[in-house]
Amino acid sequence: MSSASREGLTERQLVVVLDFGAQYGQLIARRIRDLRVYSELVPCDLSAEELAAMNPAAIVLSGGPASVYAEDAPDVDPEVFELGVPVLGFCYGQQIMALRLGGTVDHVDKGEYGPATLMRDDASMLLADTPSEQTVWMSHRDAVTQVPAGFQITAHTETCPVAAMECPRRRLYATQFHPEVHHTAYGAKMLSNFLFGICGLEPTWTMEGLAEKLVEDIRAEVGERRVILALSGGVDSSVVAALVHRAVGDQLTCVFVNHGMLRKGEPELVEQVFRHQFDVPLVHVQAQERYLALLAGVTDPEEKRRRIGSEFWKVFFEEAAKLDGVELLAQGTIYPDIIESGARKTGGKASTIKSHHNLIPFPPGVHFDLIEPLDHLFKDEVRALGVTLGLPEAMVYRQPFPGPGLAIRIIGEVTAEKLGILKEADTIVREELDAYNARLYEQTGDRNSEHSCWQYFAVLPDIRSVGVMGDERTYARPVIVRAVESSDAMTADWAKLPYEVLGGISSRIVAEVAGVNRVVYDITPKPPSTIEWE
Ligand code: XMP
Repeated sequence: MSSASREGLTERQLVVVLDFGAQYGQLIARRIRDLRVYSELVPCDLSAEELAAMNPAAIVLSGGPASVYAEDAPDVDPEVFELGVPVLGFCYGQQIMALRLGGTVDHVDKGEYGPATLMRDDASMLLADTPSEQTVWMSHRDAVTQVPAGFQITAHTETCPVAAMECPRRRLYATQFHPEVHHTAYGAKMLSNFLFGICGLEPTWTMEGLAEKLVEDIRAEVGERRVILALSGGVDSSVVAALVHRAVGDQLTCVFVNHGMLRKGEPELVEQVFRHQFDVPLVHVQAQERYLALLAGVTDPEEKRRRIGSEFWKVFFEEAAKLDGVELLAQGTIYPDIIESGARKTGGKASTIKSHHNLIPFPPGVHFDLIEPLDHLFKDEVRALGVTLGLPEAMVYRQPFPGPGLAIRIIGEVTAEKLGILKEADTIVREELDAYNARLYEQTGDRNSEHSCWQYFAVLPDIRSVGVMGDERTYARPVIVRAVESSDAMTADWAKLPYEVLGGISSRIVAEVAGVNRVVYDITPKPPSTIEWE
């Protein structure tokens, strides 16, 4: 982050998380942000001087996979403990704190992985108002065997004699377990004890504050340069567009490649929001015909995906070439993308940018520097940011939607006729299930109540069947309804929709969509099926 942006933060409001290569290092920063204190992850090898320049209110040392005695083990500048800033270490963070302050860390006979029962030993502000026995999440092979001078042990488990240690006089605290994961029953309480009780912070951080900070960062990074962005209609690219536009106004041009595979109403929403509401310079490329020609005769799902994906960048770079002096490409990469791509193993932003850069198929001789302002945010933070920036809920709370769009919900060849049928049927499925979810929300007050549908859509198979409408025999298409409950798309179950809801969808589709005479419901979980049909 630029120093210019940090000036916007009032004194002692930033909690810095030093990243020792923790698998989900951002989770710690995120939990702190959940408690409404601003936090960000930085590489562990920053010097105490560099850290002091950031003026942090507190420092957290993350976990990490290495052994403190391994060659090239990530280390901390010992002067960090002399800054007078409260420090909290987790797992590897506890071990490195112990080691650098004169304690001992050893390989222990038995590692500890998963839930463990923590037993408190002594009064502790960090563990205040948590039970004397409680469940915590452990994942370690090494452990602190002797605490540094001035420290006391405040908790242990059956296999770990130093499960928590502290030196309250110097405001240094550490745990062998992971308070940031939900399996640690009182993890959030411990973090709030640290932030509010020990560091004396106030829960004042807001999404508006985050928006302002990101805007300042983008301004500092972009300067006078021009930026281009590929708008897909999805949540992430829309939020980046709104954010970058807020930061640098007309220096941003958005290119929206309309491949014709979006759902009904989506291209219009993109136009309405970005051209009319935000007044962003928008290039709307009408590529529908080009895509239909490209997909003619193609039935293999992977080939459809490949053609749509590579054509997208081809069209995008054709448009980019028409714009003068654009140096930067803004991308809606979010933190889970980085985890999924496996790009990020240790701290440091540079490696992230580089690996993502490689994912974009730049044509020979073409180069843009990337800016990825959302790369440390989780999906729900991105959505909340979108609302703060004034994007409509229909865009921000949009369901997951595959990049190749409706092309992979049409089994077999994609044609204009099939696309027309699917768009109409899909609209009905979404209208009916939006209403069903809204009723559940009204009854339960919970957006994610047990039976609310997470993703729902129509699929058009490549078959026809016989029916009768009026007095006439029909030979027309069936529509498949897919509706699933899930939290992360890794696994899913088919939604146990009430019969009257299913019946309502079915009657509307056959009555309103020409060319359809039958509706079926997919009752397969994932696994063994996938959510999409192709
Ligand atoms: P499956 O079908 O594998 O889908 O169970 C899991 C989730 O991913 C979405 N999906 C995609 N998203 N590009 C995307 O951005 C794709 O090519 C793609 N394919 C599937 C799917 O909608 C579901 O939410």
